[in-house]
Amino acid sequence: MNLAKFPRYPLTFGPTPIEKLSRLSAHLGGGVEIYAKREDCNSGLAYGGNKLRKLEYIVPDAIASGADTLVSIGGVQSNHTRMVAAVAAKIGFKCRLVQEAWVPHEDAVYDRVGNILLSRIMGADVRLCDDGFDIGIRKSWEDALAEVTASGGKPYPIPAGASVHKFGGLGYVGFAEEVRAQEQAQGFAFDYIVVCTVTGSTHAGMLVGFAADGRARQVIGIDASFTPAQTKAQVLDIARKTADLVELGKPIADDDAVLVEDYAYPCYGVPSQETKEAIRLTARLEGMITDPVYEGKSMQGLIDLVGKGYFPKGSKILYAHLGGAPALNGYAYAFRNG
Ligand SMILES: Cc1ncc(COP(=O)(O)O)c(C=O)c1O
Repeated sequence: MNLAKFPRYPLTFGPTPIEKLSRLSAHLGGGVEIYAKREDCNSGLAYGGNKLRKLEYIVPDAIASGADTLVSIGGVQSNHTRMVAAVAAKIGFKCRLVQEAWVPHEDAVYDRVGNILLSRIMGADVRLCDDGFDIGIRKSWEDALAEVTASGGKPYPIPAGASVHKFGGLGYVGFAEEVRAQEQAQGFAFDYIVVCTVTGSTHAGMLVGFAADGRARQVIGIDASFTPAQTKAQVLDIARKTADLVELGKPIADDDAVLVEDYAYPCYGVPSQETKEAIRLTARLEGMITDPVYEGKSMQGLIDLVGKGYFPKGSKILYAHLGGAPALNGYAYAFRNG
């Protein structure tokens, strides 16, 4: 496998810490050991998160292209668009963002706080759009690219979640390599890696990276899209293209993409009662903040799967905490009583 041949523009502090969640592990019966890899604390850029690993491999291509404007898309409270706004500021580009109406929300200030507030402060040209949830390529985004060109700019396209970009999967191949080095240093390996999956390149990159030592199926994706068939197909497509790029040297089988579909209800972006309970539990036992859209759902999945005995006794489980806490500001009503 060869990841080092791809140029990488550093946007993160370096390897992210792995922290043992002792109180959560004990609370769940002590049969498994839960650790968190803190991707949510990976950078000083606008609160960080998983998109930065991906963007580290995309920025060199953006700079080489001669573009002057990063153009991307997500929901109103997209973490990804916040990260693109931060990166644009950092590398001296302009930024145009399409924020679609992906989530039915309760809070009146949903489009004023959290991620979108930060993107506005960082100078991005933020435009709201009425279209609903879809992880695919969107007309609104293609229109934004055309508008930047028509007004004399040179756009650089970054699709939702930086996923369906030719280099979108590379960052999380690097995650797997980093975990392997940390495992060597700490003297034990993880039996499972739990990750939240929506647009797919985080899971896909991990799948390729851990396939190198035969652990692709130990990566347990927890779907938060509520369109799991499309998400799983996108994970496999990105994984296969990424495997070719890094010369993995072995095929990716359909069954290598493990996606648990049970926790995304009632829909993308809306937390269930159980998601809110998982968020409160993790906050109260560990002081670790997860969000209602992504990490709260993967934490809910982890907690429920441990309870059901999905992981054999003694398993060491690595929960990838991918960020996303700023979105909580758009969910004040859901947590009005704590
Ligand atoms: C905090 C957080 N967790 C998980 C994900 C899911 O990652 P991916 O879109 O690569 O599947 C995202 C982005 O979509 C995110 O912002």
